Amino acid sequence: MINKISTNNYKPGLDIDFVKKKYNLKKVIKLASNENPLGPSKSALKILEKSKDNINRYPDGRCDDLKKEITRFISKSFIKPDNIVIGNGSSEILELVAKAFLSDKSEVVFSKHSFIVYKLVSNFMNAKIRESKLITNKSKNFMSSDLDDMKRKITQKTRVIFLANPANPTGALLSYEAIDKFISTLSKRIIIVIDEAYIEYACMLGHKSCIDLIQKYKNIIITRSFSKIYALAGVRIGYGLASKEIVSKLNNKRQPFNVNQIAQQMAIKSLDDKKFLINSLNDYVMCREYLTKELDKLDLQYIDSYANFITINFGRSTRTVFNQLLRSGIILRPLDNYNLSSYLRLTIGTLKECRAFITSLSEILGKTNV
Ligand SMILES: Cc1ncc(COP(=O)(O)O)c(C=O)c1O
Repeated sequence: MINKISTNNYKPGLDIDFVKKKYNLKKVIKLASNENPLGPSKSALKILEKSKDNINRYPDGRCDDLKKEITRFISKSFIKPDNIVIGNGSSEILELVAKAFLSDKSEVVFSKHSFIVYKLVSNFMNAKIRESKLITNKSKNFMSSDLDDMKRKITQKTRVIFLANPANPTGALLSYEAIDKFISTLSKRIIIVIDEAYIEYACMLGHKSCIDLIQKYKNIIITRSFSKIYALAGVRIGYGLASKEIVSKLNNKRQPFNVNQIAQQMAIKSLDDKKFLINSLNDYVMCREYLTKELDKLDLQYIDSYANFITINFGRSTRTVFNQLLRSGIILRPLDNYNLSSYLRLTIGTLKECRAFITSLSEILGKTNV
C-alpha cells in the first residue's frame, strides 16, 4: 500500500470503450465501480432535458430545495436543513471534514483497506494516518473493522475517525449497537465520520442506519451518496448530516457553488421516486442471492457483503483471472492498491450481467456452470 497517495495514483475501474477497443469486443459489461446497473430514476432523467433553458444561470449555492427534500425524506425531527451540507459527491464532504478538522499537527484513524479517499484527503492536510486492523479470523465479522484496535490507535492528537458502514472495498458491516458503544467511549473532541454511501443496501438486508446517533452525539457526521443506489455518479452529488455547528464549519470550507443545478434537481427527483428505489433494491437482493449461490458452487471464498458488490478471494494474485475476464468482456475491480491483491471486487449488476459473469468465470476456472 502506498503511504503517500495523491489523486494521480487513484485507479478507477476500467472504461467500457477502452476495453472494447483493446480486446476488439462488441459488448463489455462493467462490474467495477459499484454503480446502479439500472441507471437513474426516469423522473430524475427528465431534468436533463428541462435544464437546457437555465444552464447559463449559477446554481442555488445553498441547495435549499434539496435540503428541504432530504429533510422530508429522512423524516426525523432532529434533522433540519441546518443539519445538512451538500457536496460534489460525498467525497467532497470527506474532503471538507479533512479541511475543517485536520492539519499537519493532528492524526486521523481509519481501518486498513479503507476507501482510498480517506487517505487522499488526510494526505492533502498532511495529517498523520494511523490505520487499525480488520478482523481477519473466519468469524461472521470477517474483514470488518476491529473497533478495539481502532481505539488503541487513538492518541491525544486524534481529531478524526473515518468509518465506512458498509465498508468499501470489503462490503463488511458493523452493527448500530457496536458503533454506538464505540463512540460512547471516545473523547468528544474527536470527529467521527460514519460513511453511509451504501447504507440503502444494508437497510434492505435488515440493518439500521446510524442517523439516530446524531441526536445522541454532537461529534459525528453521517455521509451519504447519490452515486450508488440513485445512480447519479456522473453528476456528482452527496450530503452530510451533523449538528448545526459541524455543518457550519464544513460549509465554511466549501466553494459557494460547489454543486451544480442539474445534480441538485436530479437528486430531488430521485429521493421522491420511491418506486425506483424499491425496484432497484429488489433487483439487488435477487442478484446478490444468485451470485452468492453460484460463488458457493464454485467453492470461492467471498466477504459477507452488505453493499452492492461482493469481494471475492481467489487465494492468489488475481492478475490472470482479471485479464481473462476482461478478454471475455467483463470488467471487475482489482484491489492491488488496497493491498488486497488476492481479491477482486464484483459490482452486483443486472441478473443478465451476473449470469454472464458466472458463465465466464466458470469457464476460466475450468468448471461448468450447473
Ligand atoms: C465507502 C465510500 N464512500 C464514499 C464514496 C464516494 O462516493 P461519491 O463521492 O461518488 O458520492 C464511495 C465511492 O465509491 C465509497 O465507496
